[in-house]
Amino acid sequence: MAERVEVLLTEVEVDKRIKEIGEQISKDYAGKSVHLVCVLKGGSFFMCELAKRITIPVSIDFMSVSSYGGDTKSSGVVRIVKDLDESLKDKHVIVIEDIVDSGRTLSYLMDMLQSRGPKDVKLCTLLDKPERRVVEVKVDYTGFEIPDEFVVGYGLDYDQKYRNLPYIGMVKFE
Ligand code: IMP
Ligand code: MG
Repeated sequence: MAERVEVLLTEVEVDKRIKEIGEQISKDYAGKSVHLVCVLKGGSFFMCELAKRITIPVSIDFMSVSSYGGDTKSSGVVRIVKDLDESLKDKHVIVIEDIVDSGRTLSYLMDMLQSRGPKDVKLCTLLDKPERRVVEVKVDYTGFEIPDEFVVGYGLDYDQKYRNLPYIGMVKFE
């Protein structure tokens, strides 16, 4: 299927918002350190930019779960493809996601991470599509609430394409 990409959020808008979230996190966790858990692959671009904007000590780790095929609909099946390298014990954990859509992935993941003994676990997502929620999840930091559009860029893909776009685009199928 042929598709084209329209700009939804410009690079300047996204960068400005990430800077604000970084400042907010630095303030909220003042005097502490945070452990960022990036959900691959989509969350990686956001996490790198965000980590650079946090002024308190930061450590990072990565995990990969799968809930999507090459399609644009969540299957509801969540599988750990790559687990974390470090323990979460006694850490202030912030899960970094690209987007919360149905909420299935995150609701599963947050419960699982919570059970590993962190001091606390919060959720930070660049994008949120609240209209699409099927399972409730508490989002602590949100970059942007967006309409029910399939989006790409800044780490988000359509069939593994477009992750490298420096802005958020909407995919239009024709
Ligand atoms: P959820 O479990 O339905 O909330 O899906 C979360 C995951 O689906 C995200 O981490 C993305 O990888 C993927 N996803 C959901 N919506 C989009 C989109 O609009 N563009 C690209 N990927 C998406
Ligand atoms: Mg993701």
